[in-house]
Amino acid sequence: MNDTSVGITKAVVPVAGLGTRFLPATKATPKEMLPVVDKPAIQYVVEEAASAGMSDILMVTGRNKRPLEDHFDRNYELEATLHAKGDGDRLARVCASSELGDIHYVRQGDPRGLGHAVLCAAPHVGNEPFAVLLGDDLIDPRDPLLSRMAEVRARFGGSVVALMEVDPGQIHLYGCAAIEATGDGDVVRITDLVEKPDPGTAPSNYAVIGRYVLDPEIFDVLRRTEPGRGGEIQLTDALQALAVATPQPDGTTGGPVHGVVFKGRRYDTGDRADFLRATVRLAWEREDLGPEFREWLREFVAQDALTSVVQDALTPVAQDALTPVA
Ligand code: G1P
Repeated sequence: MNDTSVGITKAVVPVAGLGTRFLPATKATPKEMLPVVDKPAIQYVVEEAASAGMSDILMVTGRNKRPLEDHFDRNYELEATLHAKGDGDRLARVCASSELGDIHYVRQGDPRGLGHAVLCAAPHVGNEPFAVLLGDDLIDPRDPLLSRMAEVRARFGGSVVALMEVDPGQIHLYGCAAIEATGDGDVVRITDLVEKPDPGTAPSNYAVIGRYVLDPEIFDVLRRTEPGRGGEIQLTDALQALAVATPQPDGTTGGPVHGVVFKGRRYDTGDRADFLRATVRLAWEREDLGPEFREWLREFVAQDALTSVVQDALTPVAQDALTPVA
């Protein structure tokens, strides 16, 4: 584990969502447990926090999320069976998820939005900066983002969000940031934030992706934040309040809010098509499965292309055959 988090040891992972986009798979299984290749999506996220030195992880859960707790706990029976068989590889894989850090759980109760989920972490986090990781975004471990965000927080104070440029036609799906350059390559100052702007009203095409390093001041702001988009308490709205806050008599502002513009590999597992893309991309790159899978996929695509060419070529012939000869 690299301790690159510049003193940030706590990470909060909201996992209370219902996962309705994946029904019926998520009827009895939390969406975070759906496997991307052979690991539940949530394990990639917890591994990312752990490798940034955040060894204290709080999951904000809801109903039907027990399998998450089991996944990050020991399974003595399975371990003993694999041990008795001498299956060291699988034993290591089974143990890995229970050795990622200290994992804690708190229930959200009412699902009142992401801002409310983060507020549920307040008693655990206390008065220290912390990270928030959303499970729908997988960040490739080769492109570290969280540790860079923690560095930016150490330098500028306040809170830091991860931003990514997206197609303007997609920005209404995200929190959107208006930004100013700081003179430091990938770091920008945030001047405005809007949760899921209506089409045509977005201040930029910089989307907030699911990584945050937050000042504990956010909790007070969240307590005062009214329901916003979708009738939910939005984290974006609380960050907006911090971004535009004026200094208080005691010298605190809670701000500033900076963005780290991420240009690395991000896999979105939030909807079905993106989930499939993430699965294919990760399987493609795997050392163990990759060679066989790549060979199969190339053949599959080539075969499909060939079938289309043959169909296109045959269509006029078939049409001619149907045209009565004069
Ligand atoms: C949440 C946030 C949004 C952010 C997005 C990133 O939205 O509210 O600001 O851009 O995550 O994935 P959700 O996708 O949960 O609706």
